[in-house]
Amino acid sequence: MYGIIRGKSVILGVCGGIAAYKSAEILRLLKKHGANVRVLATRNALHFIGRHTLQALSENPILVDLFDEGPDASIKHIRWAQEADLVVVAPATANLIGKFANGIADDALTTLLLATDCPIVIAPSMNTKMYENAATRRNLEQLEKDGRWIMPPGSGALACGTSGAGRLPEPAEIIDYTVDVFTPKTLAGKRVLVTAGPTLEPIDPVRFIGNPSSGKMGVAAARAAAHRGADVTLVLGPSNIPDPPEKSISVIRIKTALEMRAAVLDHFDDVQIVVKAAAVGDYRPVSPREHKIKKIDDQLTLVLEKNPDILMELGKLKKDQILVGFAAETQFLEQHAADKMNQKNLDMIAGNIVGLPSSGFSSDTNQVTFFYRDGTSETPPLMEKYELAHLLFERIERRLHVT
Ligand code: C5P
Repeated sequence: MYGIIRGKSVILGVCGGIAAYKSAEILRLLKKHGANVRVLATRNALHFIGRHTLQALSENPILVDLFDEGPDASIKHIRWAQEADLVVVAPATANLIGKFANGIADDALTTLLLATDCPIVIAPSMNTKMYENAATRRNLEQLEKDGRWIMPPGSGALACGTSGAGRLPEPAEIIDYTVDVFTPKTLAGKRVLVTAGPTLEPIDPVRFIGNPSSGKMGVAAARAAAHRGADVTLVLGPSNIPDPPEKSISVIRIKTALEMRAAVLDHFDDVQIVVKAAAVGDYRPVSPREHKIKKIDDQLTLVLEKNPDILMELGKLKKDQILVGFAAETQFLEQHAADKMNQKNLDMIAGNIVGLPSSGFSSDTNQVTFFYRDGTSETPPLMEKYELAHLLFERIERRLHVT
């Protein structure tokens, strides 16, 4: 997930827990997302991960003691606190959580936490009994009340040999959570319906007509909308992508175009924005066979009938909702986009030419042209689908004035 933390000043706080080894990967990912990262480690953290590893990966000196050597060492943490856009403490031990919840500042990290105004993400990591201890529960509740972002720990095997809650989530999950926290909630109070993935139309119990849509673009749109504060319903065709972790996304898994239609119509009245990124099958076999078709005849004729055009139906039903379609074409993109905009009564279309390696069905990046109702268009550069999804919602908010 790229974009939102690019160029930002991020402080990574590392405490002395066994999961501190994962902080190197968290740091690497933050850098990969374009953040300028500074590390504050506790003394105990350096028993688990080397100072030079953190220093080399962050390309900045790391801060441990309040009284390190150097001309401005004793005030460096205050300067870093003022310059920070975001703080992530991962792993956060019970000790750090207890100190921060009670306003104790006895090393560089705890002092910085009290001295900054920016959002603070805490990723607890500890033994299950410590996590469930009444004191830790109380401290975490207090931090939540104070407006800190507490990431729920994972469950599973822990280094101490037990199993339960307290695992530090995977570095990529910590980055996703951090990106979510940091995204301005410009769609707060809005409800968004997103469709994604292919539809599969059964021929017999083991065969279908489908297409290679991966669902990545639509899932990225659902997550971007959720990160912007919207409540999202994601109607997802058969896809390998797991349900997104965001609590504000409810996923409805469907197989066929008819099932997608039913789910979409069920929710349409409740939403202000619809983004239809799904690659809906245009035709379905008239009567799928009850049993597997045997290879007896030299030729087999399948009779297909047209699926309903869901977006066209929404265009007829729409009141003051915003309808955004996708158009994947192999030629004449501009003309097809303009036709679809009119026929389906859309406000915006994201169109692309399929077949390019960097864009389209299963790639992580996409190159599209945005077409608007007023006849104008723009072609943003090739970018990550998640970043493109944010641009799409930014345009919806700015140009289409979602109400
Ligand atoms: O297939 P087509 O190029 O017309 O798709 C354009 C848009 O219409 C897409 O946003 C797609 O999700 C939607 N669509 C639909 N129902 C169909 C076919 C397409 O909602 N049966």
